[in-house]
Amino acid sequence: MSDTTEEERREYARRLAAEHLESGDPLGWFEPLYSAAERGEAVVPWAHLVANPYLVEWAGGRTGGGRSALVVGCGMGDDAEHLSGLGWAVTAFDVSPSAVGAARRRFPGSPVRYVAADLLAPPEEWRQAFDLVVEAYTVQVLRGDLRARAIRTAGALVAPGGTLLVVARAREDGDPPGRIAVPLTRSEIDAFATGGLRAVRVRDVYDDETPPVRRWVAEFARA
Ligand SMILES: C[S@@+](CC[C@H](N)C(=O)[O-])C[C@H]1O[C@@H](n2cnc3c(N)ncnc32)[C@H](O)[C@@H]1O
Repeated sequence: MSDTTEEERREYARRLAAEHLESGDPLGWFEPLYSAAERGEAVVPWAHLVANPYLVEWAGGRTGGGRSALVVGCGMGDDAEHLSGLGWAVTAFDVSPSAVGAARRRFPGSPVRYVAADLLAPPEEWRQAFDLVVEAYTVQVLRGDLRARAIRTAGALVAPGGTLLVVARAREDGDPPGRIAVPLTRSEIDAFATGGLRAVRVRDVYDDETPPVRRWVAEFARA
């Protein structure tokens, strides 16, 4: 596939997603995508190999001091490594074992604990266990009931006194969904404030991509 264009390789990811969604296997496309990327046969469209700028902004000036952080749907590991560098004790997980393997290979010797796990069925000991939970762009690739469950579960992993940071693409209720990501509506963002979490700040921002992309950057806290 080395003579294919970037756009053709992106289209491969979209087709893989569509095929699995149509066949009722909504989580089944992440692993083949990451493993095809490892072989140079696909690109992972969201893997920019830098930490999320909204996480970098949020974390700036707050040292981890050994507190625990959990990175949801960690992909290639950049957000996890950023927090680790700021002194957080980081666990990072992804449903794709190949993503986890790629993160481990990119950051040999990293103190981050990379784990293959499913946000929809996390290990029991993760419940209310993390001082910081970071969810960037995972919920938006889930649909329907899975999305509602993922929203509830992400919040359930935040420890008493802890924080949930959510970054997601944003849309109005009537806007058309995308083919891979379905941006979140305001009511979906508000739904993170459940099970003892309260919204601290919900920002509706446009970044400087061309054309600009609208996103939610939202912080929630557990008393
Ligand atoms: C759009 S990507 C975002 C990756 C990364 N957070 C980033 O910002 O670059 C969504 C990630 O979530 C992972 N993922 C999807 N469903 C998941 C689930 N149920 N549990 C854990 N990870 C999941 C995918 O494998 C993928 O790495």
